[in-house]
Amino acid sequence: MRQDQSFASAIRSGLNEKQRSISPRFLYDKLGSTLFEEICAQPEYYLTRLEAAILGKYQKEIVKNNGSSFSLVELGSGSSKKTRILLDSIFEAHDSLHYFAVDLSPTALDEASRILSAGYPNLTFVGIPFEYETGLNAVQDYINENKISGSKIILFLGSSIGNFEPSESIEFLKMVKKTMNPGDTFLIGFDLHKDPDILRAAYNDKNGVTAKFNKNILTRINRELDGDFDLDDFVHHALYNEDERRIEMHLVCKKDCSVKIKSIGETFTFSQDDYIHTENSYKLTIPLISDMAEASALKIQNSFTDDDKWYSIVQLGSV
Ligand code: AVJ
Repeated sequence: MRQDQSFASAIRSGLNEKQRSISPRFLYDKLGSTLFEEICAQPEYYLTRLEAAILGKYQKEIVKNNGSSFSLVELGSGSSKKTRILLDSIFEAHDSLHYFAVDLSPTALDEASRILSAGYPNLTFVGIPFEYETGLNAVQDYINENKISGSKIILFLGSSIGNFEPSESIEFLKMVKKTMNPGDTFLIGFDLHKDPDILRAAYNDKNGVTAKFNKNILTRINRELDGDFDLDDFVHHALYNEDERRIEMHLVCKKDCSVKIKSIGETFTFSQDDYIHTENSYKLTIPLISDMAEASALKIQNSFTDDDKWYSIVQLGSV
């Protein structure tokens, strides 16, 4: 996923491809972020609940690997909700902690800072409003400048890694590894392959929140780029592509139509059943996760899962 394109040029090039697509990172404007939080609370969306349960059950074991002194670094921290589970157990044994929240959304950082600082008086919240690589380097600079001792626990939760193509995942792991010192650990949440009916249900919740989340990208184009998508002409479709082992989200056009997007000066014509591909959400297996770790020269130190093996949190070390 390229991070350097503006919204307008990303939409222009995405809608000019033969198979139209929009990167999922554009799903998270203000309303999109709120809808995503709502998805996490839907009964069919088991991911968030299982990850929280695993963190809760294994919190002590998770932080044990990092020795007596460490900082916490979270990539894509968002609301930092699940992080609180770890913070609770960390503060049982520690007097103070630096928490580095790396997130592109300044509003999410402000909000998380406000809530965490109120709940944890001994926490030093450092908001890092950069993308991951720049953010991780900024964290290390801060640690060096302020002579903060100990290791780092890097968190990448929520199965966010599922949005990456398999080759991008390995590039990402290699990039993070470069920023790790001996003793640092890297904790990743993976959604695992399972009965496709369960997967499909998680992305087609009965309350229609995922559908709203997906269609919100069109609202965003209308608002920010002066487009005239008729939301009633498009429907949410989430399918499980078994060969690729991924959920795909599409916005399918119900009838022939044309859409003018003024800010980019183009009109796009859609035929009935044409679709815009808005997200891939890869589902992993334990052997595939091992392969990824190996390909990026990271070592699996621990892996934690629920009884049904629907979700896994893997702890990686750099040596
Ligand atoms: C935030 C990428 C993990 O793929 O499950 C939820 C996003 N999309 N419902 C996921 C999402 C539709 C989510 N991730």
